[in-house]
Amino acid sequence: MVEFGHEFRRKHFPLIEKDVVPINHGSFGVTPSSVIEYQKQRMEEEEKYTDAFFSLNSTEKYVEQLKQLGSYMGVDYRNFALVTNATTAVNAVLRSLPWDFSKDKILFHSTTYQACANTVRFLKDYFKLQYDVVELQYPLEDDEVLELFEKKLSTGEYKMCLFDMITSMPGVKLPYQQLISLCQKYNVWSLIDGAHAAGQVDLSFLDRLKPDFMTTNLHKWLFVPKTCAMLYVNPKHHDLIQTFPVSWSYGMKLIESPSTSQEVQHNENLLINKFMFVGTATYAQVLSVSEALKFRSDVCGGEDNIRKYQYDLQKRAIEQVKKVFGPGSESLQNSTGSLNPPGLFNVSLPFAEEYMPVLRNLQDDFGYFRVFKYKCDRKMLAENKAYAPFVIHNGKIWVRFSVNLYNELDDYSAGAASVKSVMEQVLHTELENLKLKA
Ligand SMILES: Cc1ncc(COP(=O)(O)O)c(C=O)c1O
Repeated sequence: MVEFGHEFRRKHFPLIEKDVVPINHGSFGVTPSSVIEYQKQRMEEEEKYTDAFFSLNSTEKYVEQLKQLGSYMGVDYRNFALVTNATTAVNAVLRSLPWDFSKDKILFHSTTYQACANTVRFLKDYFKLQYDVVELQYPLEDDEVLELFEKKLSTGEYKMCLFDMITSMPGVKLPYQQLISLCQKYNVWSLIDGAHAAGQVDLSFLDRLKPDFMTTNLHKWLFVPKTCAMLYVNPKHHDLIQTFPVSWSYGMKLIESPSTSQEVQHNENLLINKFMFVGTATYAQVLSVSEALKFRSDVCGGEDNIRKYQYDLQKRAIEQVKKVFGPGSESLQNSTGSLNPPGLFNVSLPFAEEYMPVLRNLQDDFGYFRVFKYKCDRKMLAENKAYAPFVIHNGKIWVRFSVNLYNELDDYSAGAASVKSVMEQVLHTELENLKLKA
């Protein structure tokens, strides 16, 4: 039986510097060194005879990766495109659909990842696409989340709903399957941001529930090298969707009444042919998808084994962090325990009443929050080498921790101590500054 924890880290993640406490897998992902070695070999292959690589073999190799991913996830690979990252996938969808700017409206939630929400804001500012926001203040029961969405969706005002499977900050799971059904009930297109999904939750629902669009990073939790994400497109939209940036495949259309087997194949492979070459870029990480999947099944013992280790460690890690953070510290959870995916949990950092003015500023002034966060991040990253992101949400400071196969309980003692001491120092300085200004 494979032993996870620090021995696993030494063996499979030796590239992580020895004095780093890696408690933030969620932001960018960390790749096993065997997969990185495989990726390097693919890069070398590209250089041996570049013309032949790109002109003769790249399509077949790309399709082979899609097939392996499809069979791993239990989804038809012809509904997949491989792109650089989740932000690019969201842009591909939002910026290639034929909106009616005189009336179309998008719904997203207040905790949407800012880069994706900004893409909608860009479409509003430049083209007058309308949007509306569902306010989510955690902790929330799944039913409460659904009620808040349904209240908006049932008005019939929306063309599309953009929602997360697992939100970034705080790191919480949404009832995404029910949200897909809600969108379908009210005839609203779903665009699902599953940036944290692959490698944390099962995705076989895609072909069953058939949302309109969904993306997931493969470089975060699936151990594929950076940068690689999957975009799922419902077959009914293969014709509509365009690559981002718009490129060679623009004008490639669905044949309306295919009569030959070639025409049928053209239609079935439309999404693949649109996205397989957008502009010159290395295929090295894309061609390493299969190696990452092999690592997960052969070395890690498969998805259930991986998740079991994460959930077991998560349970103990929450208690450990609460102990370090001190009295009043809470885990962000609802009554059914549905908020935490296997690899993420959030714990509140209590602070003394005297810091309330700083907290209010952090909550009300995003510019101030950014500067404050930069000060904290720099200390955690450069001085302590133990970094966890935090957010001010619903009147509390929530710190997000990640759990992966290379972690052990003492990572969370060291990580929580780093966050607590840095934040207390910076809060103190900020309070002094406010007093001086008053
Ligand atoms: C919910 C969510 N969406 C989108 C992204 C963007 O991912 P990327 O930077 O790989 O595009 C992230 C990154 O953390 C995320 O958490």
